[in-house]
Amino acid sequence: MNALQVISLALLFVMAAQAQVTMPGRCPQPAVQKDFDAAGYLGKWFDIVKLPHSFQKGECSTATYSLQSPGVVGVLNTELLANGTVNSISGSATAKDPSEPAKLSVTFFENSPAAPYWVLDTDYDSYSLVYSCTDLGVLHVDFAWIMSREPTLSPITLARLQAKLGSIGVRVDKLINTIQDEEYCGAV
Ligand SMILES: *[C@@H]1O[C@H](CO)[C@@H](O)[C@H](O)[C@H]1NC(C)=O
Repeated sequence: MNALQVISLALLFVMAAQAQVTMPGRCPQPAVQKDFDAAGYLGKWFDIVKLPHSFQKGECSTATYSLQSPGVVGVLNTELLANGTVNSISGSATAKDPSEPAKLSVTFFENSPAAPYWVLDTDYDSYSLVYSCTDLGVLHVDFAWIMSREPTLSPITLARLQAKLGSIGVRVDKLINTIQDEEYCGAV
């Protein structure tokens, strides 16, 4: 490798590190939505705010959940990339422990590691707060999404859900807005 390649690679690592929020200590174990009802959760959700995630770079992101088979939720994530391409990725989610239905586990590729998808709070027909955490030894990486059934969410609900994330130690100052402007997003 020449010097330029080394510098490029180093920059890439720094950028990758900045693309997610790493925190000290082990993953928190927040309370999740009581009596979570997966059937009521199916359908389309719009991303309103999220923590930065290397796999989500676009805008207008939505998640659509469907019943794939008993106990298995199909996941379809769609986003609009800056160059105008619509990008979709599909996967599936299951609750490993039926006594904890709000603690889902999502996989997007066969044999890929499952990522936690914990529904912390939802009313099924307006908002959802999703948290995911990965332990990295003495550190952990936080992911979070606040989603809405509509392209917008009431500021009061948004503030309440952000406060909930803050109470479990999530860096709410790192949350980024997702553009859901109908004119920009078109038919995505
Ligand atoms: C848009 O960007 C994506 C990701 O970088 C790329 O895969 C795709 O080919 C691009 N599409 C066009 C039309 O440039």
